[in-house]
Amino acid sequence: MKKIGNKLSLRARLTLMYSGLLAVIVCILGITFFVDTRSLLIHYTASHVRAGAKPVIEQWLYEKGSRFPTSDDLKQIAELLARDLTSRNTVAVILDSKGVPIATGKLLPEEPSPPQPESFYYLQALAGKNEVSYIISQQKHRSLVILIPLRQSPTSEKILGVAQVSSPLTSVEQTLFRHGLSLAVGTLITLFIGVGLGFLLISSALAGLNRMIHTCQEISAGDLTQRVNLPRHQDEIGKLAHAFDEMVDRIESTLDAQRRFIANAAHEIRTPLTALRGSLEVLMRGSQDDPASFARLSQGMYQEVMRLSRLCEQLLDLARLEIASKIQKRPLKLDEFFSGLMQQARILAQGQTVVIKQGPPITVLADPDMLKQILLNLIKNAIQHSGRKSTITLGWRFIPDQVEIWVADDGEGIPPGDIPYLFEPFYRGSSSASKGVKGTGLGLTIVKTMVEAHNGQIKVKSQLGKGTDFIFNLPLH
Ligand SMILES: Nc1ncnc2c1ncn2[C@@H]1O[C@H](COP(=O)(O)OP(=O)(O)O)[C@@H](O)[C@H]1O
Ligand SMILES: [Mg+2]
Repeated sequence: MKKIGNKLSLRARLTLMYSGLLAVIVCILGITFFVDTRSLLIHYTASHVRAGAKPVIEQWLYEKGSRFPTSDDLKQIAELLARDLTSRNTVAVILDSKGVPIATGKLLPEEPSPPQPESFYYLQALAGKNEVSYIISQQKHRSLVILIPLRQSPTSEKILGVAQVSSPLTSVEQTLFRHGLSLAVGTLITLFIGVGLGFLLISSALAGLNRMIHTCQEISAGDLTQRVNLPRHQDEIGKLAHAFDEMVDRIESTLDAQRRFIANAAHEIRTPLTALRGSLEVLMRGSQDDPASFARLSQGMYQEVMRLSRLCEQLLDLARLEIASKIQKRPLKLDEFFSGLMQQARILAQGQTVVIKQGPPITVLADPDMLKQILLNLIKNAIQHSGRKSTITLGWRFIPDQVEIWVADDGEGIPPGDIPYLFEPFYRGSSSASKGVKGTGLGLTIVKTMVEAHNGQIKVKSQLGKGTDFIFNLPLH
């Protein structure tokens, strides 16, 4: 059973389940309705017969004389009473107090015979029970038998006999048959429409899933540009498709960024390698005999090797940050931290003045090595891009729940067109490239990654020819 269930499609399984449930509910409702109607009709027939018999019995038993009737009186009037209780739809039998039939309303032989009295029921009526009725089958016909105790007086306990009035259920059964037939047809139509509508509904709901399966297959075959692109439904499948598209967007842009990164990295490595190869070829051709060109070439080669190892270090830094972001935060007193840093900044400076604008004494939760690398990268950039007489300012200030730290210079500034790309890997501003400043373009990428590892943000403000401010904030806790 489970195996068959697994082989069927979700649509088939849902339709089957839903149809089964619908069929069970409709059938239960139909049967309940049918049984209810049947008992209502029988009850109605019984009440009708009883209501017809009551005045006849009263007339014969109580209105004929002033004294109470006896069993003998009953024997005398039984024939007439039975005949009066018999009509086109009913046939009556009168039983005495022992249950023996003493008169019947049947006159002609072709008239239907009344059913044989059944002791189980007439004993109940003789015991005084008023509402005794039951159904019996007689020659393929069913009749309703009603037993009415014949009392000495309407309120008396003494019972003289029982009037058994029976009425064929033919018309009730015909009505019930027609009723049942229309109920069955109605049930079938309801089921048919219900199953059809359900199937359409389930199909349209699952169409989105089918589209997703198709898209997944195309993506796994290598086409990352595919999207489900369902019209924005608010149902679960619409939301799933939208989330799926967003996820593929992210994967695609991450893969793109990785590809660009690798291409740029290879390019950055190729440049110094080409220079090294050129220098080595010249050396091998015999230039080592000329001490001047040997010194120049080996100096150049040394610089290229330095550049390669710097690139390598920075790539490793980035990889380490990306892999585990092993950040080890601890409380840092900013004033102590900055006084240590200022010494290093002044050693690195190439004639620039490095000053500090101290903020309030704040303790931040940060990784000291990372914070140092962030600031040194920014300071080195400021030194590279500002003149010898310029001033580099470091500082911090308190903003609610955060500290804002900045490195500002009054150097060359950054062209507005460069600003959106500054933090991208290997991006070097147009001015740096033209001035031949030796950099890898990874410095600011590392800075941004480290700031973000601290849950902070970095921004840049720059005016061409006037200077640049790099400002980042760190949460205090
Ligand atoms: N303080 C600054 N003033 C002017 N330009 C800057 C400054 N800092 C960074 N830049 C620009 O941003 C680019 C990227 O910087 P960075 O990522 O540190 O790479 P690199 O220093 O290796 O060139 C630099 O090439 C430079 O053009
Ligand atoms: Mg740099």
